[in-house]
Amino acid sequence: MGKIGTNMLASKRILLIIGGGIAAYKTLDLIRRLRERGAAVTPVMTSAAEEFVTPLSVSALAGERVFRHLFDLTDEAEMGHIQLSRSADLVVVAPATADLMGKMAAGLANDLASTLLMATDTPVLLAPAMNVRMWEHPATRRNHDQLAADGIRFVGPNDGDMACGEFGPGRMAEPMEILAAIETALGDGPLSGRRILVTSGPTHEPIDPVRYIANRSSGAQGTAVARALAALGAEVVFITGPASVPPPQGVQVVPVESAREMDAAVDAALPVDAGVFAAAVADWRVASASDRKLKKSKDGLPVLEFAENPDILKRVSRLEAGRPRLVVGFAAETNDVVEHATAKRLRKGCDWIVANDVSPATGIMGGSENAVILISDEGAEEWPRMGKDQVAEKLALRIAEALGG
Ligand code: CTP
Repeated sequence: MGKIGTNMLASKRILLIIGGGIAAYKTLDLIRRLRERGAAVTPVMTSAAEEFVTPLSVSALAGERVFRHLFDLTDEAEMGHIQLSRSADLVVVAPATADLMGKMAAGLANDLASTLLMATDTPVLLAPAMNVRMWEHPATRRNHDQLAADGIRFVGPNDGDMACGEFGPGRMAEPMEILAAIETALGDGPLSGRRILVTSGPTHEPIDPVRYIANRSSGAQGTAVARALAALGAEVVFITGPASVPPPQGVQVVPVESAREMDAAVDAALPVDAGVFAAAVADWRVASASDRKLKKSKDGLPVLEFAENPDILKRVSRLEAGRPRLVVGFAAETNDVVEHATAKRLRKGCDWIVANDVSPATGIMGGSENAVILISDEGAEEWPRMGKDQVAEKLALRIAEALGG
């Protein structure tokens, strides 16, 4: 990657709208980091924001005056709100409150922040922050979907403990994550120009036209990895079995049902710079699958014969021509995790295995956290227990490093 810390945002201008939320204190750090990277920051504060941080701290860190009120713009001829809204390379709203999202989705413009957001012709990135119930409220869901459909980009919110004492999604993304999203939005993410395929979810293996064999994978980890890769600027081909979580935004979704369909879709997605194989692919399919519905019969119970499915990870890892530069597999183990996963890496021929212990005592299966061990030719590296989204983000950053962003 090697870009972070350099002047990669030099000569970029960010119009930073600060909404009224406790997370506004993190925005002060964001301003500092943007300026360290050479960006110019024009700050705008809503009056609610001023209840959380002062215009003086914001302007001191930004090194520019803070725009606060619609009618502050006394010199309309010189710097009207239209010009202010368009003079930036990117508009960032952090924290984006439920109120600001609602105004944007409805097209209201009754203060400086909402007017700038209506008047701008520049890409807009929101870093939402709010109480978990507010984030999950149907009105916020609707507003989020509307804004995403309008082409507004999002970073976060993250899961975690919140200032209000509750736990769940709603906490503003960390300044470094917002920075990565800003770089990506400006076409400068560490994975821009890289094409990466991700397999995810379970597969369904038909018994007959109405019945199938499946497994309990939700697709959550693969979805989080695809989202994190896209957030760093990768072009992601997301090949997913019938998962129970929705696919991320900003990726090319290829829906499949069976292992053989997944295998064909992976083939069609090549060449790629990297492949991440997070799907829980069924090892066997029903060899005797019928194209008619099986009927009850007096002659006894049906007998299902199995055939082996293609091992997609192994096949791609061993490609002689067109092998991705980096192939990453997953392994869920209940015991002797490092030994089993190390052997699996060699057996499959992939570069990395992301291994985790799914024995019931860990509470990882079905939980929101994960504790993984990254197995590579350098050995086993144990990561601290963290949220599944954070695991995905850490993995995406490692992939960016390996591909030499
Ligand atoms: N995988 C695949 N195609 C298959 C089976 C598995 O691409 N037909 C990939 C998975 O996406 C995952 C890794 O291989 O990245 C998991 O390996 P797998 O052989 O499924 O592990 P287990 O079934 O757990 O193996 P074992 O039974 O030996 O533990």
